[in-house]
Amino acid sequence: MGYYDNEHSSKEEVEKELTKHWKPEWLKEKNIYDWLDEETNIPWLELDVYADMPWVEIFKEAQAVKDQCVVHREYSGGGTWLSGCLHGIRTDVTNDWRHLDEFKHLKEDEVEYKWTELADQCPITTDYFKNKFPFREYKRLRFMWLEPGGYILPHKDNDERCFSPVNVSIYNPTGCEFRYRNWGTVPFTNGSAFIVDVGQEHAVWNRSNEARLHIICHGKRKNPDWKHLLIKSWQKYGYGKF
Ligand SMILES: [Fe+2]
Repeated sequence: MGYYDNEHSSKEEVEKELTKHWKPEWLKEKNIYDWLDEETNIPWLELDVYADMPWVEIFKEAQAVKDQCVVHREYSGGGTWLSGCLHGIRTDVTNDWRHLDEFKHLKEDEVEYKWTELADQCPITTDYFKNKFPFREYKRLRFMWLEPGGYILPHKDNDERCFSPVNVSIYNPTGCEFRYRNWGTVPFTNGSAFIVDVGQEHAVWNRSNEARLHIICHGKRKNPDWKHLLIKSWQKYGYGKF
């Protein structure tokens, strides 16, 4: 008896089945984003952007305008979570358009999004996200501060899988953890970026004595740069890690 002796399958059929299984679907049928979104349940994927990110300069610019940020979702962060929009409806409209009486009757596409006065004061940050980061168009692009000892209570932002927002870590002190129930802590370092599934329960707790700064990006991605980045990122940070 050889390994391939089987009344149902020839050696060729066995190898064909195994080859099919070994090869990710997105290589032939789907694009990688749809494959990651629909065929996996991974909670995050690190993006391979570290080498290009001027996070030291971005952090300096953000510190200089921190006083223009406003408390974000007090019910979730108890006043320790601050935000300001670089791009959006206005600097201080840090939740989505439905939270604003004058906009809540509109569809998302009818809302006007633009670079804010916060962006004018942060030229290096704005240049990076306008010209280097692989997004074609932004909706909200926000500084998200979490004060020392601050927290974001466990929550889901969506009822279903929502593997979409990109969370860029500008400064993430040791002791500040963004954690998924059952998956553990997202390995944020300064100058790293992750796509996160905000349809799975997550929470953040800053058990350090320094403020954390992340930037959350919503918008349309640049193709094919985005596709190229995803493939590179999955090969570097995805295979064998989930
Ligand atoms: Fe969230």
